[in-house]
Amino acid sequence: MPKLPAPPIPAGLKPKPKRPGEGNGKPKPQDVAAEAGIHAVDWVDERTSLSGGLRWLMFRKVPKGTNWFYTLGSATLFAFLSQAVTGVFLAMYYDPSPIHAYESARYITNDVFLGQFVRGMHKWGATVMMILIFLHLGRTFFFGAYKYPRELNWVIGVVLLVLTMVMALTGYLLPFDQRSYWATIVADNINGTGPLVGPYLADFLRGGPEFGATTLSRFYSIHMLLVPGALIALIGAHLWLVAKLGTTAPPWLKVEPPEDLRKAKV
Ligand code: HEM
Repeated sequence: MPKLPAPPIPAGLKPKPKRPGEGNGKPKPQDVAAEAGIHAVDWVDERTSLSGGLRWLMFRKVPKGTNWFYTLGSATLFAFLSQAVTGVFLAMYYDPSPIHAYESARYITNDVFLGQFVRGMHKWGATVMMILIFLHLGRTFFFGAYKYPRELNWVIGVVLLVLTMVMALTGYLLPFDQRSYWATIVADNINGTGPLVGPYLADFLRGGPEFGATTLSRFYSIHMLLVPGALIALIGAHLWLVAKLGTTAPPWLKVEPPEDLRKAKV
């Protein structure tokens, strides 16, 4: 891949040169504040060299014809972050025991400050994330972004999709009301009909032959520890590959030969 020239430092981060005879010799308070910010950034950068990595990540060449469909990946990422934030607040009040689960969810909705809002955001956010992930998958498929050299990113994407569906399945049980209880039993039985691994998978999800207390705590730990951890790691790998390989140009754009080749033809 060709090495891009180092991008310029943003104007806001450069100290302004002083004009001769400017002001009464004392710096303005806003300049002092700006300088303090620059010094703090410099201090961290000198010790970590983070700015090189950040510039590598942020200043990229984008293909011609990039359009709104390219924002679907970032929109999915935003939905995931929103789920993570609202989920943390729900976990502060939720109790994953069969006796208290329903009551704790009811308590969040009716008694906790903004509880209904946060629970609603988490519930609707799950649906929005599912829709966005499929739209993003469709975009990458129809733009041919799964082809060389991005096959690995496609494979990581498929795992992200499966994990997102696991989040939806395990989260559905947590309110522990009649609907979530029976719907999860149906889903678990459907898993059990899968070839070869099906019965083992259903058994693993139930945490034994019976659907009960172990199932709920198992679903909770998968929902808030195991799968989010895997999602964070895989989204990191996914984005690293996007930054490394760049995004695919829309398929309807004609490939233009590089400038030097065009000149060579004449
Ligand atoms: C948690 C789920 C996901 C997140 C947060 C995510 C995020 C992103 C982002 C931010 C981009 C760059 C911008 C863009 O092209 O939209 C991207 C690109 C890409 N994603 Fe995803 N993605 C996810 C799931 C998936 C899935 C399910 C697939 C396919 C099975 C997929 C395949 C790809 C591919 C192939 C690219 C490269 C696109 C290109 O080169 O034009 N991603 N993803």
